[in-house]
Amino acid sequence: MTKLRCIVLALMLTFIFAYAASAEDACVACHQKISPGQVKDWQVSKHSKEDVTCSTCHGEKHTTAEDAKLATMPDESVCGECHEQQFEQFSKGKHNHGWTSLNAMPVTHVEPDELMEGGRGCGGCHNMGIKSEAQKKEQREKGYRYQTNSCDECHTRHSFSKKEALNPRACQQCHMGYDHPQWEMWSSSKHGTRYLTQEVGDLPEGAAAPKCQDCHMPDGNHENRTAWGFLGVRLPLPEDAQWAADQVTILKALGVLNPETGEPTARLDAVKAVDLARLTEEAWSTEREKMIKTCSKCHSGTYAREQLSMGDKIMQKADRLMADAIQIVANLYKDGIIKKPADYAFAYPDFLYFMRTGGSNIEHMSHIDQVLFEMYMKHRMRTYQAFFHVNPDYAYWYGWAMMTKDLGEIKELAQTMRATHQK
Ligand code: HEC
Ligand code: HEC
Ligand code: HEC
Ligand code: HEC
Ligand code: HEC
Ligand code: HEC
Ligand code: HEC
Ligand code: HEC
Repeated sequence: MTKLRCIVLALMLTFIFAYAASAEDACVACHQKISPGQVKDWQVSKHSKEDVTCSTCHGEKHTTAEDAKLATMPDESVCGECHEQQFEQFSKGKHNHGWTSLNAMPVTHVEPDELMEGGRGCGGCHNMGIKSEAQKKEQREKGYRYQTNSCDECHTRHSFSKKEALNPRACQQCHMGYDHPQWEMWSSSKHGTRYLTQEVGDLPEGAAAPKCQDCHMPDGNHENRTAWGFLGVRLPLPEDAQWAADQVTILKALGVLNPETGEPTARLDAVKAVDLARLTEEAWSTEREKMIKTCSKCHSGTYAREQLSMGDKIMQKADRLMADAIQIVANLYKDGIIKKPADYAFAYPDFLYFMRTGGSNIEHMSHIDQVLFEMYMKHRMRTYQAFFHVNPDYAYWYGWAMMTKDLGEIKELAQTMRATHQK
């Protein structure tokens, strides 16, 4: 290369970089005044050191204070352009179904919109998953502009830190509370106690202290799934005949089996589409074996297997109570003591309407239905989730004991309803 050509090339490059930098400086310079906290956050991120700038993610169309609406909100595919592996893994896992499974629930369409699209209530946690074009269009038409990205749920914007996502607190916002208190169970278990004491320096560094990510995102894998899943049902049914019958009763209350014929309903397809339950023996045991491999990093394989199969057994016993309770309420529907709400497919309890607390324009659920729902969604969940997360108190007092109390209440209520029913 001649000396002259070198100088020309150097000048060109300088020009290009200066141009790029000035476009970037404009975003940063103005936003330093508009939203300084955001700029600082970006500055501490790895992105700022790697020329991943405001306009990389938000585009270059918005340049003045008046045209902010021209900025685009980056969806997951924007992150996926540079982080293909995490994007691919995420798109195969359960988190990718968060938004779709929320919208597959009848309850979603009878509760206030702010609790769905508004980033609080159901939508605050179920803003997980790559939205389809149709879903994005619906969101925009309703007037909601944000909540388009799920990658910022564990490594929050704009620092996008790996270390933050590795802290179990990154899961806490969503995996807590009423029907999935994994944070509470784990943080007060032996596993969590070890992690938390290690954090303040009271357990030597390097001592074993498993956290959510160790068991659910081993090797940083963004594809997450468990054997039983959330609802604690599966197909094929368990081998034990009584347990299989009890799971069928639960599946009827979930509306995926017709309560009269036992045949699959259209809802089963919706359940399949969002991977709500493992549908083959192989799908179930693949996840179970993966988990046992993880436990075996610190425990003996036999020990781990025994601990997890105890979780299955308590679920079997919980399902016995659950099926009894469903049957009592189902009989009230059958005998016309509870009237079938107009939008129910069957005269049978329907768990997918949740508590049905919504607006004044919808029919309220009977009190006994609400007790039954709580027995399933809160107390049955706690009973078996606590076994898997090794929490003594949740397994008994918050789980099993409450289920027996619910069953007692349901029996009592049913008796009164029958006695006071006006023909
Ligand atoms: C001259 C000042 C200015 C410049 C230059 C500027 N912005 Fe903005 N930006 C604003 C103002 C003002 C808002 C609106 C803030 C509000 O709504 O409170 C905004 C809003 C935004 C929003 C949020 C949009 C929304 O709907 O909430 C994004 C994203 C954004 N800017 C990114 C950028 C990017 C990327 C660049 C560079 C390409 C840039 N900005 C350049 C002033 C500026
Ligand atoms: C233009 C490419 C590009 C885009 C687009 C991009 N990133 Fe990055 N990202 C990078 C580079 C480069 C790094 C630094 C890699 C390194 O240091 O190993 C990085 C690092 C990261 C890290 C690790 C930070 C750490 O603490 O180690 C996370 C998390 C991350 N990005 C998330 C995201 C998310 C979420 C999005 C979308 C909202 C996104 N990235 C968009 C290029 C990109
Ligand atoms: C913004 C909320 C949110 C955050 C943060 C979050 N999750 Fe989730 N998670 C969900 C939702 C919603 C689902 C259910 C998705 C669906 O509808 O299928 C879920 C499902 C799961 C499942 C699958 C359970 C099954 O059905 O088999 C696992 C495992 C899981 N999350 C682990 C984690 C871990 C570990 C973290 C932290 C690193 C985390 N999640 C952070 C909302 C969240
Ligand atoms: C605090 C966060 C949070 C709120 C609020 C929330 N969910 Fe969830 N939801 C989750 C998490 C986390 C899971 C996965 C739990 C598990 O696997 O144990 C989940 C699971 C589900 C599932 C099962 C998904 C599957 O594939 O297993 C459905 C359906 C669902 N939620 C619907 C709703 C509806 C409807 C609402 C509002 C009435 C709601 N959720 C409110 C966090 C939340
Ligand atoms: C790696 C990608 C990435 C980069 C770089 C980035 N952003 Fe964002 N930004 C996002 C994501 C993701 C959201 C959330 C979008 C959503 O959920 O709808 C967001 C949201 C916003 C919002 C609207 C929501 C809020 O919290 O106010 C503003 C304003 C914004 N960004 C400004 C900026 C500015 C200014 C810069 C540069 C200093 C910047 N962004 C750099 C990814 C990025
Ligand atoms: C020591 C390993 C371990 C740790 C730590 C752990 N889990 Fe789990 N988790 C399990 C096992 C085992 C299951 C049940 C797997 C099955 O169905 O076979 C499970 C199940 C789940 C499920 C599905 C529903 C349920 O509870 O049964 C979610 C969601 C979940 N865990 C989230 C979390 C979150 C969030 C944390 C941290 C607060 C966490 N887990 C900590 C082992 C762990
Ligand atoms: C459920 C929480 C969660 C969600 C959602 C999530 N991540 Fe992560 N991410 C993590 C955790 C935890 C790590 C650290 C994994 C490890 O190193 O063990 C991580 C690490 C990363 C890294 C750094 C990889 C490395 O080793 O340098 C990138 C890049 C990344 N995630 C991108 C993404 C993208 C893109 C999305 C959306 C498609 C996403 N993440 C969604 C939890 C999450
Ligand atoms: C990273 C290492 C590690 C992993 C992985 C791990 N554990 Fe543990 N576990 C421990 C340690 C350490 C203790 C505390 C031992 C003690 O109580 O002295 C413990 C305690 C327990 C206990 C309570 C024992 C008691 O005496 O109170 C049970 C049950 C248990 N683990 C089951 C499991 C299961 C099931 C898995 C897999 C889903 C698992 N563990 C994964 C390290 C681990």
